[in-house]
Amino acid sequence: MGGVTELKEIMGHRGVVWGVVFLFCVLGSPAMESDEPCSRATNYSDALGKAILFFEGQRSGKLPFDQRVKWRGDSALSDGQPEKVNLTGGYYDAGDNVKFGWPMAFTVTLLSWAGVEYQKDISSVNQLGYLHTAIRWGTDFILECHPSSTTYYTQEFYGGKKDLDKFKSDAESFVCALMPGSGSVQIKTTPGGLLYTRDSSNLQYVTSSSMLLFIYSNTLTVAKVSGVQCGSAHFSATQIKSFAKSQVDSTLFQ
Ligand SMILES: *[C@@H]1O[C@H](CO)[C@@H](O)[C@H](O)[C@H]1NC(C)=O
Ligand SMILES: *[C@@H]1O[C@H](CO)[C@@H](O)[C@H](O)[C@H]1NC(C)=O
Repeated sequence: MGGVTELKEIMGHRGVVWGVVFLFCVLGSPAMESDEPCSRATNYSDALGKAILFFEGQRSGKLPFDQRVKWRGDSALSDGQPEKVNLTGGYYDAGDNVKFGWPMAFTVTLLSWAGVEYQKDISSVNQLGYLHTAIRWGTDFILECHPSSTTYYTQEFYGGKKDLDKFKSDAESFVCALMPGSGSVQIKTTPGGLLYTRDSSNLQYVTSSSMLLFIYSNTLTVAKVSGVQCGSAHFSATQIKSFAKSQVDSTLFQ
């Protein structure tokens, strides 16, 4: 995240993030779904299946026999040849037949994290195998890009550590920065309530933030911590989860 140029961000992520965001659907428990006023329109299991299928459409390289997205053929079979390495495979970033290492790493990380965190839910709608295949398609490529301990092939490299370090070092202030109504709120929302960080590829921030809010909320629940104090405002685990769910629902269904 944050590891690519402005231009690449405009082109990129829109696809992968759409895919990733669907994964969060499994976070909505049945109980939460039922108090959704327009629940008929929100089929999370359908969204999840399509999100994972999306990645098959983005595949580069030699496609396997069980490829489900049939309009995509083998492509870019000579990637890496000038450098005498095999860089075929991986995912296209968007519709422009370019592969970007860092966005791909971001995507595969998020997919894997979702797979670890929500394995049971994803499995319950028979998508876990497809998810594993989607992750594997990305990780195989990432491994190819790293043929020796001192070499990594990538298209773009700009420092983007800041966000991650911040997430890691201070989850609570991160939550406070996101939750509307917290004294310390730093991140704006659109009039419809979607987190708004920037014009290009805003959804990558929405998806990452929602994921972290969901996980943090679960962590609070498991640890029996009542919530997060943001100045004079207090947010319970349930409130944090509801806010994260609102982000997923806005992204998927509105
Ligand atoms: C939701 O989508 C899944 C997968 O497409 C489908 O099997 C299921 O019948 C749908 N559920 C509803 C309530 O429409
Ligand atoms: C290059 O890597 C891909 C994906 O891992 C593999 O399917 C293919 O056989 C490899 N090509 C060569 C020439 O080794």
